[in-house]
Amino acid sequence: MILEDIKIHEIFDSRGESTLEVEVLDEKLNSFSAEIPSGKSRGKKEATVLSFPEAKKVVDLVLKKELIHKNFSSIKDLDNFLIRLDGTLNKQNLGGNLMLGVSIAFARGLAHKENKELWQILKEEFWGGLISEKRPLIFSNLINGGAHAGNNLDIQEYMVVVDSKDQDYAASIKILIDFYKELGKFLQSKYKLDKLIIGDEGGYAINFENNFEPVKILESMIVSGGFKDIFSLALDVAASNFYKDDKYNFGGNQISSQKLNQILLDYLVNSSLLMSIEDPFDEEDMSGFKNFNAKCPDKWIVGDDLTVTNPEFIEKFAKEKLISAVIIKPNQIGTVSETCSAIRVAQENGLKTIVSHRSGETEDVFIIHLAKAGNVDAVKIGAPVRERIVKFDELIKLYS
Ligand code: PGA
Ligand code: ZN
Repeated sequence: MILEDIKIHEIFDSRGESTLEVEVLDEKLNSFSAEIPSGKSRGKKEATVLSFPEAKKVVDLVLKKELIHKNFSSIKDLDNFLIRLDGTLNKQNLGGNLMLGVSIAFARGLAHKENKELWQILKEEFWGGLISEKRPLIFSNLINGGAHAGNNLDIQEYMVVVDSKDQDYAASIKILIDFYKELGKFLQSKYKLDKLIIGDEGGYAINFENNFEPVKILESMIVSGGFKDIFSLALDVAASNFYKDDKYNFGGNQISSQKLNQILLDYLVNSSLLMSIEDPFDEEDMSGFKNFNAKCPDKWIVGDDLTVTNPEFIEKFAKEKLISAVIIKPNQIGTVSETCSAIRVAQENGLKTIVSHRSGETEDVFIIHLAKAGNVDAVKIGAPVRERIVKFDELIKLYS
């Protein structure tokens, strides 16, 4: 596909933060675009994020000159060109957010040209079109804490994991939406609140008695509602956010890595539904991850800030047995090709794969197509409300 033009627009994500929409035009002047989300609880090694004015400068001074009228035969062809042009390890010059925007918009153009769906194009280029299409679990964040809320929870995300089994997505998502509303009513009456506070990812963000109470509440509502067959639970501890000087500031105490390990193991003992724990330790606390992962052979111990969707890190930490699952966020690495290679590397090393949104979301549904193309194990898409609902709708559409 020949890139006839490239444009950039400033848009605002669900947190009201400025972010980018990238638009490319093909030889027939058809327009394709991509909206890029933004994260608040970022890993230190994520690709560079350019502000809108910085990205606009790069488009006007570099990309227009380098890309316009050029023909790229595949997504990889374009991405490799961008990676070489940027020339840095963390996309300092072109920005991971800008590069990803060009990469996704181009992929949409290619899909249009070949009269295919976006997921088909991805599947053919990166998975040889071969793998089967199982339905991913849905990780839905119903109670928000940490960096995503102004409440007293240190743990960032309390998620319900939906396993649709043979049921179609529409039916299980309807059950999830009703459950989310019931949870809101329950919390409002338990804490006698006039109104509920909502966090960045659409979950409830009120104060709780302690970090474990949300797990207890969710578990007892799942059991009493008769949803044990389709719902389980997951946490994103996002421990880097409360780690400083070798200590974790957790539950009002400064505790060691070993102590946090013990607390999280107790959580698993006290909750029969808890199946997955993301970033249980700081991204530089490798021994914390390794010890914990060794003690939880049947659970998903998930890397996010640890792995930042980087194929090299994913392979290294999988081989060293720090994790058994990994979060995939395209804007952590900055191109479609590298994102797909991160999924492939994870799959080849026996990790579970979870394609994920960011806390600052747009209405772009690229990640759902990515999930389908890569036949991943799960998608993480927030609470079933507001701007997040389009991703649930796309799941229903792509898998019906
Ligand atoms: P984000 O983090 O705020 O950077 O999107 C979400 C997460 O930690 O999974
Ligand atoms: Zn995370």
